[in-house]
Amino acid sequence: MPRRHATPAPDDEGGTVRPRKAVIPAAGLGTRFLPATKAQPKEMLPLVDKPAIQYVVEEAVRAGLDDILMVTGRGKRALEDHFDHAVELERQLAATGKEDLLAAVQAVTNLALVHYVRQGKPLGLGHAIGCARHHVGDEPFAVLLGDDLIGEDERLLQRMVDVCAETGRSVIAVMEFGDEDLSRYGVVAAEPDPDHPDVYRVTDLVEKPGKANAPSNLCIIGRYVLTPDIFDHIEQTKPGRGGEIQLTDAMRAQARDEPIRAIKFTGTRYDVGQKGDYLKATVQVAAKRHDLGPEFIEFLRSFVAGLG
Ligand code: G1P
Repeated sequence: MPRRHATPAPDDEGGTVRPRKAVIPAAGLGTRFLPATKAQPKEMLPLVDKPAIQYVVEEAVRAGLDDILMVTGRGKRALEDHFDHAVELERQLAATGKEDLLAAVQAVTNLALVHYVRQGKPLGLGHAIGCARHHVGDEPFAVLLGDDLIGEDERLLQRMVDVCAETGRSVIAVMEFGDEDLSRYGVVAAEPDPDHPDVYRVTDLVEKPGKANAPSNLCIIGRYVLTPDIFDHIEQTKPGRGGEIQLTDAMRAQARDEPIRAIKFTGTRYDVGQKGDYLKATVQVAAKRHDLGPEFIEFLRSFVAGLG
């Protein structure tokens, strides 16, 4: 059975509780990977032998968040099947003595309590998160975007959860990127938090501003821990960049009340939302695997040498 956590108690100030739920938006069409995503969700594209979405759920569980809500849409049935029991398959693996595979298949089901809600209309990331309101209720919660995978040894999300519980403010993860990336990410205006060396106080956020309008080079990567007042801000948020209701714009309103926090991340992150980066991530993940890595690295060496 999935591990359960006790209902969190209010802290001394009577407000902040420790996040225990994670929301994973997974309603996107995955057009960048067509035709591979014509009949399967992009979240099911594998890195070696695990679909990308499984890495994301595992990361949430490592941070103590084992109540997962996926925001899905049409054509995402495979996600539900992946995290559900596969009775016939399990029976067959047991009957043929394939214990390792059986354990791997069952582990996915036992990972977390996974819930689903459908977005209905593709109105943007902010709108997708708004669809989680009923499930999340009046608690802080994490958001993990599936295009960003964080190295399995990193403790980024745990740290974000800690900072949210400590400050009672929303927390985002940022990385410093070059000018050419400032039109691909939300970008923040921030100053170091005197109380914590790795934390910034964020006073403004702009969605994909480009170099000319960016307040800094600190780009939002797809990890958020949000306080529940974000839902009211989302409801007030008008369509922004690309005509979509942007989470960045809702957080901008939230940051106006009092700075929200950012953790500057310098560890391993894989971008699996673009073809080239997805290929790099696949190679990196394969090279790190104990079972495949040594032979695969040998292959890569001779392959690269052969390229001259
Ligand atoms: C979303 C957010 C953006 C953030 C990015 C991280 O953009 O809107 O602020 O920087 O994720 O991956 P998307 O990649 O969905 O266009």
